[in-house]
Amino acid sequence: MGLGNCEVAVALLLFLSCSCSVYGDAGDTITTSQPIKDPEAVVSAGKKFKLGFFSPVNSTYRYVGIWYSNISAATPVLWVANRNNPINDSSGMMTKSEDANLVVLNGQGEVLWSSNVSIGFNQSTAQLTDDGNLVLKAGPNGNLVWQSFQQPTDTYLSKMRLSANARTGNKTLLMSWRSSSDPSVGNFSAGVNPLGVPEFFIWYNGHPFWRSGPWGGKNFIGIPGMYTSVYLDGFSLQNEGDGTFTLSSIRDPAFRLTYVLTSHGKFKEQYWDYGKQGWEYDWEVPSTECDIYGKCGPFGSCDAQNSPICTCLKGFVAKHQDEWNKGIWTSGCVRLTSLQCDRIQNGSEVGKEDGFIKLEMMKVPTFADYWPYPSSEQECKDECLKNCSCVAYVVCGPAPCDGGPPH
Ligand SMILES: *[C@@H]1O[C@H](CO)[C@@H](O)[C@H](O)[C@H]1NC(C)=O
Ligand SMILES: *[C@@H]1O[C@H](CO)[C@@H](O)[C@H](O)[C@H]1NC(C)=O
Ligand SMILES: *[C@@H]1O[C@H](CO)[C@@H](O)[C@H](O)[C@H]1NC(C)=O
Ligand SMILES: *[C@@H]1O[C@H](CO)[C@@H](O)[C@H](O)[C@H]1NC(C)=O
Ligand SMILES: *[C@@H]1O[C@H](CO)[C@@H](O)[C@H](O)[C@H]1NC(C)=O
Ligand SMILES: *[C@@H]1O[C@H](CO)[C@@H](O)[C@H](O)[C@H]1NC(C)=O
Ligand SMILES: *[C@@H]1O[C@H](CO)[C@@H](O)[C@H](O)[C@H]1NC(C)=O
Ligand SMILES: *[C@@H]1O[C@H](CO)[C@@H](O)[C@H](O)[C@H]1NC(C)=O
Ligand SMILES: *[C@@H]1O[C@H](CO)[C@@H](O)[C@H](O)[C@H]1NC(C)=O
Repeated sequence: MGLGNCEVAVALLLFLSCSCSVYGDAGDTITTSQPIKDPEAVVSAGKKFKLGFFSPVNSTYRYVGIWYSNISAATPVLWVANRNNPINDSSGMMTKSEDANLVVLNGQGEVLWSSNVSIGFNQSTAQLTDDGNLVLKAGPNGNLVWQSFQQPTDTYLSKMRLSANARTGNKTLLMSWRSSSDPSVGNFSAGVNPLGVPEFFIWYNGHPFWRSGPWGGKNFIGIPGMYTSVYLDGFSLQNEGDGTFTLSSIRDPAFRLTYVLTSHGKFKEQYWDYGKQGWEYDWEVPSTECDIYGKCGPFGSCDAQNSPICTCLKGFVAKHQDEWNKGIWTSGCVRLTSLQCDRIQNGSEVGKEDGFIKLEMMKVPTFADYWPYPSSEQECKDECLKNCSCVAYVVCGPAPCDGGPPH
């Protein structure tokens, strides 16, 4: 089809626009002789996903992205290649570079995005799979050298693997868009926090913003919708043994079930309702102000039905009463009377023994020590009393946990 010549024209004659185009079925692969040029697209073999050029709402910039194909209504973009480097006109293309990487070029031939891996072969194959994954394979055995699933944008798709390594800190994260018209990296990220008992976290500029509560075997116990959802999420959290935890779901992509981290820091489950022919939301977190990480500070208790929402636990008072009265709760609360444990260590008067109060509907603390098989609740209590840095224990069943701090 003479496309090779066309590419040379683009590369060498910077000021000439190429007038050739690909006719017929675009297929599911991108090759050097078959790049995609705005507004062309490739479609996965089973026609489930499309990769092409798009402009976000209220934007004229062009980006290369992946979305569901064969949907009549507006459909969310699931992955964006050049999210931080938009093309400012319709002269962009996605092709292969000399080093066999996938690249997005503008009309001037400048590299706006690259898969940017060291490949070691001149030839590679880029293919959009029916899972919505853009994969780059190279070498005689067609080894996987890069995939979009390992570099997600803001959306989790079934079969993606969100990993986090506790030792190296290496994480696969979802990164929010800046706004609905700007896919560049925003302030929120989300992924597995592998420290202690693994949880799912949303971070705001790297600081904890929301957490799921620990993994309960089939779901995170602090996401209420994850229990009841008709579209059972089917997640697993695997311990890979080297400090790596991997969250993945093996739902059939035909369900069109996705999880998106919005530019406002909400994590939502959305799915395509085949009956209504529209996108629906199942649940989103954080769902109340009490879901915001550390809203009431240490030893503060949050109840979204109360006004004000924050109170100090029994036996505690606001650390800074004036701030607290103004609704700035993040400094939290402090103990009225020190614990016997500390008093003994301090060599001061021994006084009354420590005990516990029971609190229900609490999230388990982050970074708790996990004890898989205590013989009894008493054992937890005794261990906690022995250790001055232990301030609470929690008993967890299949239902939400309860327990409480000593007083
Ligand atoms: C797009 O722009 C219009 C007009 O400024 C505005 O009303 C609308 O909310 C914008 N849409 C989004 C999604 O930002
Ligand atoms: C495309 O959508 C139509 C209408 O919803 C459906 O009948 C058809 O099976 C779909 N094709 C594929 C390949 O998913
Ligand atoms: C588009 O981008 C090119 C290359 O980055 C730049 O030279 C050109 O001035 C831009 N055009 C507009 C209209 O911004
Ligand atoms: C490729 O990766 C290297 C090292 O991480 C980085 O310095 C470089 O800017 C990247 N290039 C592109 C085109 O993204
Ligand atoms: C790969 O590219 C290098 C440099 O362009 C060339 O010397 C070599 O022959 C190429 N190898 C193959 C297998 O095409
Ligand atoms: C980080 O994790 C990704 C995905 O699991 C992996 O491909 C990459 O090699 C890791 N990087 C480092 C430095 O360990
Ligand atoms: C991101 O956070 C910074 C620092 O808090 C803030 O200045 C900026 O406006 C935020 N950007 C967006 C898009 O929310
Ligand atoms: C321990 O003693 C020091 C110095 O007397 C005092 O400042 C601190 O508050 C005491 N801590 C507790 C927990 O009683
Ligand atoms: C005491 O509890 C802290 C916090 O739970 C823990 O890190 C530490 O290892 C415990 N110390 C002992 C001696 O068990």
